[in-house]
Amino acid sequence: MYSGAIQRAFEILPALTEEQKADFQQEGFLRLPSICTPDEVARLLQILERLFAERAGFEEGAQYDLVAGRQSADAPAKLPQLLYPVNYAPELRDTAFRENALRLARQLLGADARPAFEHAVLKPAHHGAETPWHQDEAHRFDPAYDYEQLSIWMPLQEATPENGCMRYIPGTNRGELLPHRSPHNDPTVYALETDPNAFDVRQAVACPLPAGGCTIHHGRTIHSAGPNQTNRPRYAYILAFERPPRARATPRRFAWNEEKQTDAQARRRAWRRRGGVLVEIARRVRHRLRTNPLGLYYDVRWALRAAWRKLGL
Ligand code: NI
Repeated sequence: MYSGAIQRAFEILPALTEEQKADFQQEGFLRLPSICTPDEVARLLQILERLFAERAGFEEGAQYDLVAGRQSADAPAKLPQLLYPVNYAPELRDTAFRENALRLARQLLGADARPAFEHAVLKPAHHGAETPWHQDEAHRFDPAYDYEQLSIWMPLQEATPENGCMRYIPGTNRGELLPHRSPHNDPTVYALETDPNAFDVRQAVACPLPAGGCTIHHGRTIHSAGPNQTNRPRYAYILAFERPPRARATPRRFAWNEEKQTDAQARRRAWRRRGGVLVEIARRVRHRLRTNPLGLYYDVRWALRAAWRKLGL
Protein backbone atom coordinates (compact mmCIF):
# COMPACT_ATOMS: atom_id res chain seq x y z
CA MET A 1 0.00 0.00 0.00
CA TYR A 2 1.28 3.49 -0.83
CA SER A 3 2.11 5.88 1.96
CA GLY A 4 -0.53 8.37 2.91
CA ALA A 5 -3.33 5.98 2.11
CA ILE A 6 -6.47 6.55 4.05
CA GLN A 7 -6.69 3.89 6.65
CA ARG A 8 -9.95 2.07 6.29
CA ALA A 9 -11.76 2.28 9.56
CA PHE A 10 -14.03 -0.33 8.19
CA GLU A 11 -17.60 -0.08 8.96
CA ILE A 12 -19.28 -2.09 6.33
CA LEU A 13 -22.85 -0.89 6.17
CA PRO A 14 -25.58 -3.36 7.00
CA ALA A 15 -27.49 -4.60 3.94
CA LEU A 16 -30.38 -2.43 2.79
CA THR A 17 -33.78 -3.60 3.94
CA GLU A 18 -36.39 -4.76 1.45
CA GLU A 19 -38.33 -1.61 2.33
CA GLN A 20 -35.37 0.62 1.43
CA LYS A 21 -34.88 -1.17 -1.88
CA ALA A 22 -38.58 -0.89 -2.69
CA ASP A 23 -38.46 2.82 -1.78
CA PHE A 24 -35.59 3.37 -4.18
CA GLN A 25 -37.45 1.64 -7.01
CA GLN A 26 -40.60 3.62 -6.29
CA GLU A 27 -39.25 7.08 -5.44
CA GLY A 28 -35.90 7.09 -7.25
CA PHE A 29 -33.83 8.11 -4.25
CA LEU A 30 -32.77 7.00 -0.77
CA ARG A 31 -31.15 8.77 2.14
CA LEU A 32 -28.70 7.10 4.57
CA PRO A 33 -27.34 8.76 7.72
CA SER A 34 -23.81 7.39 7.32
CA ILE A 35 -21.67 5.75 4.65
CA CYS A 36 -18.22 6.16 6.22
CA THR A 37 -16.56 7.18 9.47
CA PRO A 38 -16.17 10.76 10.75
CA ASP A 39 -12.40 10.27 10.54
CA GLU A 40 -12.58 9.41 6.86
CA VAL A 41 -14.93 12.32 6.16
CA ALA A 42 -12.42 14.70 7.76
CA ARG A 43 -9.58 13.34 5.60
CA LEU A 44 -11.64 13.43 2.43
CA LEU A 45 -12.59 17.03 3.15
CA GLN A 46 -8.92 17.99 3.53
CA ILE A 47 -8.07 16.31 0.23
CA LEU A 48 -10.91 17.94 -1.70
CA GLU A 49 -10.17 21.36 -0.19
CA ARG A 50 -6.61 21.02 -1.49
CA LEU A 51 -7.63 19.80 -4.96
CA PHE A 52 -10.04 22.69 -5.47
CA ALA A 53 -7.60 25.25 -4.01
CA GLU A 54 -4.87 24.01 -6.37
CA ARG A 55 -7.31 23.88 -9.29
CA ALA A 56 -6.21 20.30 -9.89
CA GLY A 57 -7.09 19.10 -13.37
CA PHE A 58 -7.86 22.59 -14.71
CA GLU A 59 -5.44 22.37 -17.66
CA GLU A 60 -6.85 18.96 -18.51
CA GLY A 61 -10.40 20.30 -18.62
CA ALA A 62 -11.27 18.15 -15.59
CA GLN A 63 -11.95 21.12 -13.29
CA TYR A 64 -14.34 23.84 -14.37
CA ASP A 65 -17.26 25.95 -13.25
CA LEU A 66 -20.51 24.10 -13.95
CA VAL A 67 -22.59 27.23 -14.41
CA ALA A 68 -20.19 29.81 -15.89
CA GLY A 69 -20.30 30.23 -19.63
CA ARG A 70 -17.54 31.79 -21.69
CA GLN A 71 -18.85 35.28 -20.98
CA SER A 72 -18.44 34.88 -17.23
CA ALA A 73 -15.34 32.67 -17.31
CA ASP A 74 -13.21 35.28 -15.50
CA ALA A 75 -15.63 35.76 -12.60
CA PRO A 76 -15.05 33.85 -9.33
CA ALA A 77 -16.20 30.26 -9.78
CA LYS A 78 -19.74 29.72 -8.54
CA LEU A 79 -19.96 25.95 -8.84
CA PRO A 80 -16.57 24.29 -9.42
CA GLN A 81 -16.60 20.62 -10.33
CA LEU A 82 -13.65 18.22 -10.48
CA LEU A 83 -13.99 15.05 -12.54
CA TYR A 84 -12.20 11.96 -11.22
CA PRO A 85 -10.59 13.54 -8.13
CA VAL A 86 -8.90 10.15 -7.65
CA ASN A 87 -6.66 11.00 -10.63
CA TYR A 88 -5.12 13.80 -8.57
CA ALA A 89 -5.13 12.16 -5.14
CA PRO A 90 -4.45 8.40 -5.39
CA GLU A 91 -5.16 8.02 -1.66
CA LEU A 92 -8.82 8.32 -2.64
CA ARG A 93 -8.65 4.86 -4.20
CA ASP A 94 -8.90 3.02 -0.95
CA THR A 95 -11.75 4.30 1.19
CA ALA A 96 -14.66 2.90 3.13
CA PHE A 97 -16.86 5.30 1.15
CA ARG A 98 -15.88 3.61 -2.10
CA GLU A 99 -16.29 0.11 -0.71
CA ASN A 100 -19.66 0.81 0.88
CA ALA A 101 -20.90 2.68 -2.18
CA LEU A 102 -20.14 -0.28 -4.44
CA ARG A 103 -21.99 -2.61 -2.09
CA LEU A 104 -25.01 -0.30 -2.06
CA ALA A 105 -24.97 0.00 -5.86
CA ARG A 106 -24.94 -3.78 -6.25
CA GLN A 107 -27.90 -4.17 -3.91
CA LEU A 108 -29.91 -1.59 -5.85
CA LEU A 109 -28.86 -2.20 -9.47
CA GLY A 110 -27.78 -5.83 -9.41
CA ALA A 111 -24.62 -7.86 -8.96
CA ASP A 112 -23.27 -6.64 -12.33
CA ALA A 113 -23.19 -2.98 -11.19
CA ARG A 114 -19.74 -1.44 -11.64
CA PRO A 115 -18.14 1.95 -10.93
CA ALA A 116 -18.91 4.30 -13.81
CA PHE A 117 -17.36 7.67 -12.91
CA GLU A 118 -16.81 10.03 -10.01
CA HIS A 119 -16.72 13.74 -9.34
CA ALA A 120 -16.62 16.33 -6.59
CA VAL A 121 -18.58 19.57 -6.44
CA LEU A 122 -17.82 22.68 -4.40
CA LYS A 123 -20.47 25.26 -3.60
CA PRO A 124 -18.45 28.25 -2.35
CA ALA A 125 -19.62 30.13 0.74
CA HIS A 126 -22.13 32.95 0.13
CA HIS A 127 -22.18 32.71 -3.67
CA GLY A 128 -22.26 28.98 -4.45
CA ALA A 129 -24.76 28.68 -7.29
CA GLU A 130 -27.89 26.62 -7.58
CA THR A 131 -27.48 23.33 -9.47
CA PRO A 132 -30.18 23.33 -12.18
CA TRP A 133 -32.88 20.64 -12.30
CA HIS A 134 -31.70 17.74 -14.44
CA GLN A 135 -31.50 13.99 -14.94
CA ASP A 136 -27.98 12.53 -14.89
CA GLU A 137 -28.65 10.31 -17.90
CA ALA A 138 -28.81 13.47 -20.06
CA HIS A 139 -25.06 13.90 -19.53
CA ARG A 140 -24.20 10.58 -21.19
CA PHE A 141 -22.22 10.98 -24.37
CA ASP A 142 -23.60 8.12 -26.40
CA PRO A 143 -27.38 8.12 -26.82
CA ALA A 144 -27.19 4.79 -28.67
CA TYR A 145 -27.28 2.96 -25.32
CA ASP A 146 -29.74 2.58 -22.49
CA TYR A 147 -28.24 3.35 -19.12
CA GLU A 148 -29.12 1.93 -15.74
CA GLN A 149 -27.12 4.04 -13.33
CA LEU A 150 -27.18 5.62 -9.90
CA SER A 151 -25.14 8.21 -8.04
CA ILE A 152 -24.12 8.17 -4.40
CA TRP A 153 -23.77 11.72 -3.15
CA MET A 154 -21.90 12.34 0.10
CA PRO A 155 -21.52 15.79 1.69
CA LEU A 156 -18.29 16.41 3.61
CA GLN A 157 -20.00 18.76 6.04
CA GLU A 158 -23.60 18.89 7.06
CA ALA A 159 -25.82 19.50 4.02
CA THR A 160 -28.84 21.70 4.65
CA PRO A 161 -31.41 23.55 2.54
CA GLU A 162 -29.36 26.69 3.27
CA ASN A 163 -26.07 25.38 1.84
CA GLY A 164 -27.42 23.37 -1.08
CA CYS A 165 -28.53 19.89 -0.03
CA MET A 166 -29.97 17.64 -2.72
CA ARG A 167 -33.62 17.90 -3.83
CA TYR A 168 -35.48 15.20 -5.70
CA ILE A 169 -38.76 14.84 -7.58
CA PRO A 170 -40.11 11.48 -6.39
CA GLY A 171 -41.06 8.85 -8.96
CA THR A 172 -39.39 10.56 -11.94
CA ASN A 173 -36.95 7.64 -12.09
CA ARG A 174 -39.80 5.63 -13.61
CA GLY A 175 -40.48 8.16 -16.36
CA GLU A 176 -38.76 9.04 -19.60
CA LEU A 177 -35.61 11.05 -20.07
CA LEU A 178 -36.88 14.60 -20.61
CA PRO A 179 -35.39 17.02 -23.13
CA HIS A 180 -32.54 19.07 -21.66
CA ARG A 181 -30.86 22.32 -22.65
CA SER A 182 -27.98 24.53 -21.61
CA PRO A 183 -28.89 27.09 -18.93
CA HIS A 184 -29.80 30.41 -20.64
CA ASN A 185 -29.51 28.42 -23.89
CA ASP A 186 -25.79 29.14 -23.70
CA PRO A 187 -23.88 26.09 -25.02
CA THR A 188 -20.66 27.39 -23.42
CA VAL A 189 -22.15 26.52 -20.00
CA TYR A 190 -21.26 23.01 -18.90
CA ALA A 191 -24.42 22.27 -16.88
CA LEU A 192 -27.68 20.99 -18.29
CA GLU A 193 -31.21 21.75 -17.19
CA THR A 194 -34.58 20.34 -18.00
CA ASP A 195 -37.67 22.44 -18.54
CA PRO A 196 -39.03 23.28 -15.06
CA ASN A 197 -42.55 23.20 -16.54
CA ALA A 198 -42.11 19.52 -17.47
CA PHE A 199 -42.55 18.37 -13.87
CA ASP A 200 -44.11 19.59 -10.64
CA VAL A 201 -41.43 21.38 -8.66
CA ARG A 202 -43.79 21.56 -5.66
CA GLN A 203 -43.23 17.81 -5.24
CA ALA A 204 -39.54 18.37 -4.52
CA VAL A 205 -38.17 16.61 -1.45
CA ALA A 206 -35.14 18.27 0.15
CA CYS A 207 -32.67 15.84 1.71
CA PRO A 208 -30.62 17.39 4.52
CA LEU A 209 -27.77 15.11 5.63
CA PRO A 210 -25.09 14.93 8.27
CA ALA A 211 -21.47 14.99 7.07
CA GLY A 212 -20.65 11.51 5.80
CA GLY A 213 -24.28 10.61 5.17
CA CYS A 214 -25.44 10.06 1.61
CA THR A 215 -28.26 10.22 -0.83
CA ILE A 216 -28.53 7.69 -3.63
CA HIS A 217 -30.40 8.64 -6.78
CA HIS A 218 -31.24 6.90 -10.02
CA GLY A 219 -29.92 8.26 -13.33
CA ARG A 220 -33.44 9.36 -14.32
CA THR A 221 -34.50 10.95 -11.02
CA ILE A 222 -34.94 14.69 -11.57
CA HIS A 223 -32.82 16.54 -9.03
CA SER A 224 -31.15 19.82 -8.18
CA ALA A 225 -29.46 21.49 -5.24
CA GLY A 226 -30.03 24.99 -3.96
CA PRO A 227 -27.45 27.78 -3.67
CA ASN A 228 -25.06 28.04 -0.75
CA GLN A 229 -26.20 30.97 1.36
CA THR A 230 -24.03 30.14 4.37
CA ASN A 231 -20.55 31.35 5.29
CA ARG A 232 -18.99 27.89 4.87
CA PRO A 233 -18.16 26.15 1.57
CA ARG A 234 -20.13 23.00 0.79
CA TYR A 235 -18.17 20.04 -0.58
CA ALA A 236 -19.73 16.87 -1.98
CA TYR A 237 -18.08 13.74 -3.34
CA ILE A 238 -20.11 11.64 -5.75
CA LEU A 239 -19.52 8.09 -6.97
CA ALA A 240 -21.62 6.83 -9.89
CA PHE A 241 -22.28 3.21 -10.78
CA GLU A 242 -23.93 1.49 -13.71
CA ARG A 243 -24.93 -1.83 -15.15
CA PRO A 244 -23.39 -2.67 -18.52
CA PRO A 245 -25.14 -0.31 -20.98
CA ARG A 246 -27.37 -2.00 -23.57
CA ALA A 247 -27.63 -0.92 -27.19
CA ARG A 248 -31.01 0.71 -27.85
CA ALA A 249 -33.41 -0.67 -30.41
CA THR A 250 -34.68 2.81 -31.29
CA PRO A 251 -32.22 5.63 -31.90
CA ARG A 252 -32.34 8.93 -30.02
CA ARG A 253 -30.25 12.08 -30.00
CA PHE A 254 -28.98 14.28 -27.20
CA ALA A 255 -28.93 17.54 -29.14
CA TRP A 256 -28.10 19.37 -25.90
CA ASN A 257 -24.72 17.59 -25.77
CA GLU A 258 -23.97 17.90 -29.48
CA GLU A 259 -24.16 21.70 -29.29
CA LYS A 260 -21.88 22.11 -26.23
CA GLN A 261 -18.85 24.37 -26.71
CA THR A 262 -17.35 24.74 -23.26
CA ASP A 263 -13.93 26.08 -22.36
CA ALA A 264 -13.31 22.87 -20.41
CA GLN A 265 -13.84 20.84 -23.60
CA ALA A 266 -11.37 23.11 -25.43
CA ARG A 267 -8.78 22.72 -22.66
CA ARG A 268 -9.26 18.93 -22.72
CA ARG A 269 -8.79 18.78 -26.48
CA ALA A 270 -5.62 20.90 -26.29
CA TRP A 271 -4.27 18.76 -23.44
CA ARG A 272 -4.98 15.57 -25.37
CA ARG A 273 -3.13 16.91 -28.39
CA ARG A 274 -0.13 17.72 -26.20
CA GLY A 275 0.10 14.03 -25.29
CA GLY A 276 -2.55 13.97 -22.58
CA VAL A 277 -4.41 11.35 -24.56
CA LEU A 278 -1.80 8.79 -23.52
CA VAL A 279 -2.21 9.75 -19.86
CA GLU A 280 -5.95 9.47 -20.28
CA ILE A 281 -5.78 6.02 -21.84
CA ALA A 282 -3.37 4.78 -19.15
CA ARG A 283 -5.64 6.11 -16.39
CA ARG A 284 -8.72 4.64 -17.97
CA VAL A 285 -7.18 1.21 -18.45
CA ARG A 286 -5.82 1.18 -14.88
CA HIS A 287 -9.13 2.32 -13.44
CA ARG A 288 -11.13 -0.19 -15.47
CA LEU A 289 -8.81 -3.10 -14.66
CA ARG A 290 -9.17 -2.33 -10.96
CA THR A 291 -12.91 -1.89 -10.95
CA ASN A 292 -14.67 -2.83 -14.15
CA PRO A 293 -12.75 -4.86 -16.75
CA LEU A 294 -15.86 -5.29 -18.90
CA GLY A 295 -16.07 -1.49 -19.07
CA LEU A 296 -12.95 -1.51 -21.22
CA TYR A 297 -14.87 -3.30 -23.94
CA TYR A 298 -17.52 -0.57 -23.93
CA ASP A 299 -14.84 2.14 -23.91
CA VAL A 300 -13.15 0.69 -26.99
CA ARG A 301 -16.46 0.21 -28.74
CA TRP A 302 -17.47 3.79 -27.95
CA ALA A 303 -14.10 5.18 -29.14
CA LEU A 304 -14.34 3.27 -32.42
CA ARG A 305 -17.90 4.49 -33.00
CA ALA A 306 -16.83 8.07 -32.28
CA ALA A 307 -13.88 7.78 -34.68
CA TRP A 308 -16.21 6.25 -37.28
CA ARG A 309 -18.61 9.19 -36.99
CA LYS A 310 -15.78 11.71 -37.14
CA LEU A 311 -14.60 10.20 -40.39
CA GLY A 312 -18.13 10.60 -41.70
CA LEU A 313 -18.48 6.90 -42.38
NI1 NI B 1 -26.84 15.28 -11.23
